[in-house]
Amino acid sequence: MRKQIAAANWKMNCTLTQAEELLSKLAAAEINVTENRISVIAVPAPYLILAQQQLVHKANVFVAAQNCYSKKSGAYTGETSVEMLQSIGTAYVLIGHSERREYFHETNSLLADKVNIALEYNITPIFCCGEALDIREANTQNEFVGRQLEESLFHLTAEQLQKVVIAYEPIWAIGTGKTASSEQAQEMHAYIRSALAAKYGSSVADSISILYGGSVKGSNAAELFAQPDVDGGLVGGASLNAEEFTAIINALK
Ligand code: PGA
Repeated sequence: MRKQIAAANWKMNCTLTQAEELLSKLAAAEINVTENRISVIAVPAPYLILAQQQLVHKANVFVAAQNCYSKKSGAYTGETSVEMLQSIGTAYVLIGHSERREYFHETNSLLADKVNIALEYNITPIFCCGEALDIREANTQNEFVGRQLEESLFHLTAEQLQKVVIAYEPIWAIGTGKTASSEQAQEMHAYIRSALAAKYGSSVADSISILYGGSVKGSNAAELFAQPDVDGGLVGGASLNAEEFTAIINALK
């Protein structure tokens, strides 16, 4: 069975004191996780080591970085390399979040390089894709997301692709309180899986976790996660509240 994943994305939030408080609540929370039902917490870079220390005793809970650079090392002031992430034991990294694409002009081809280097260092990329409102209104979301997958992932071998997690996050639903309906989420997830199957075959496509992101909350998580092709969520705002995020983890199927 493919992994079901509740991933938190703290984005650029929390002071050290707030991060410590949230981590200690998560460390104490009663969460129902197993090897196939996991949680991943993407914290700001300054708190990666702290998060790993605080959550080390929590089985099936992993820490993620929110970004990495595409080069191994060198004169790239302000960037974080995957070699650094690997050296501190980071297991996952978000790649291509829509905020990175929009505010930092990250292109599909740069993201392909980031996916490659993460895999090279055995860090699982959580590759984000998703369309803006105008694309949804023009009903061209499948073509748009298809192109994101093609240009950033489809150069991978099947073996490499099976190490990637995909997160579908419609931009119009991020931080807006406007969740895609569970039917809209299922429809796009099924489309993504069919695109993976067309390129890599259905057994590879069936093994890949596809998360939904965009205003996931404790109150809507179970309905979204119950969809056959929705394998969990990538959660922004609601992940800053330990009780709310605990409810989301426990809504995984
Ligand atoms: P949101 O963010 O849950 O606050 O909508 C999701 C995301 O951007 O990953």
